[in-house]
Amino acid sequence: MKALKYAAAIGAMALSLVILPSPSVAQSGGAAPAVQNQNVFNLSPSAESQVRQDANQPQNNAPVWREVNKPIGHVSTITTPEANVLIQSSGNQWSLIRNGVISVFGGWLIVLATVGVFLVYKIKGEIKLKAGRSGNEVLRFTDIERWSHWAMAYSFVTLAISGMVIMWGRDVLLPIIGGTAFGALTFALKNIHNIVGPFFTVAVIVFFVLYVRDNIPNKGDLEWFKAGGHGPAHRFNGGEKLWFWAGVTFLGLIVSVSGWILDGIVPGVEYFTRGTMQIANIIHGIAATLFIVMAMGHIYIGSIGTEGAIDGMRTGYVDENWGKEHHSLWLEDVKRGADHRGRFEETAPRVSGAPSSASNS
Ligand code: HEM
Repeated sequence: MKALKYAAAIGAMALSLVILPSPSVAQSGGAAPAVQNQNVFNLSPSAESQVRQDANQPQNNAPVWREVNKPIGHVSTITTPEANVLIQSSGNQWSLIRNGVISVFGGWLIVLATVGVFLVYKIKGEIKLKAGRSGNEVLRFTDIERWSHWAMAYSFVTLAISGMVIMWGRDVLLPIIGGTAFGALTFALKNIHNIVGPFFTVAVIVFFVLYVRDNIPNKGDLEWFKAGGHGPAHRFNGGEKLWFWAGVTFLGLIVSVSGWILDGIVPGVEYFTRGTMQIANIIHGIAATLFIVMAMGHIYIGSIGTEGAIDGMRTGYVDENWGKEHHSLWLEDVKRGADHRGRFEETAPRVSGAPSSASNS
């Protein structure tokens, strides 16, 4: 819709801006050539300069473009903000940052992170449960807690893949699959990206509300970091809390706000200028790249990197030995009668489909 408005604005202004005779009329000996009788066209000074340019250097329309490039002074009947700015020249800076700094550095950062994760897996492999599996399962996440995480994970991965195709597809995919397939694919992914974005925001908000209390930092987290990511932890350890605050909360907020601006769906705001969109786009690109890099590390640790970690996300239950080795303080509390979050004052919610061997106390 906005693209149409811009196109209409540019078309209308181009017509009203300068009335130029074509070079053939200007130079032919036909009726009333413009160069000889400029009053016929009532030319503005810039149009006059174009006519002179045409006479000296046919096909050189630099004066028109100099005029068009001016940020002010054009007239349009269209009332949207900036409709009288035919070409917004700071768009050049935006394009240099987007297609230079972000795409080059961001692209290499993602390549490095991918190689890094691959090397860690090759060298270190899966972190095994030292005591093996006990066979006793302990409730760790309720259905709603799991589903809010999965909603966030699925929407995030969809946004990450579609976003990367929008950002780097032209460099990486286009030469391989060709223009027709790339055009169709990118068109589809761009629309998917625009629609899934707001769902991700909702998933992040639900996740935040459900998990924030167990992510409040405490002294033990520092000890956990000092011990190199080991040692006793309550429900969530220092690393998870860092990911919760720096990743989900901070970067989630930044990509969401900038994304809603780019989607043009911020409640109460009808119109964003090109400058606002360009700043939003730069912030969105940087934050999303960092988010993707962090998420790669997180997804690795939470899946193939750590034996037993994914169980909690899949079924809601973890092996008791996994609890002992990764969240010993939490497990102790649960065994002493706390609910599945390690809280004593509330009773644990009932969970459908609980395995019969499950124990929550
Ligand atoms: C397919 C992708 C993902 C997988 C396999 C995965 C897996 C996991 C696992 C196994 C845990 C550990 C739970 C525990 O402590 O028992 C976890 C925690 C967590 N995940 Fe994911 N995750 C994925 C995607 C995401 C994404 C995209 C985000 C954020 C955008 C995210 C945010 C978190 C947070 C913040 C925690 C820590 C819980 C907390 O501190 O509240 N996860 N994830």
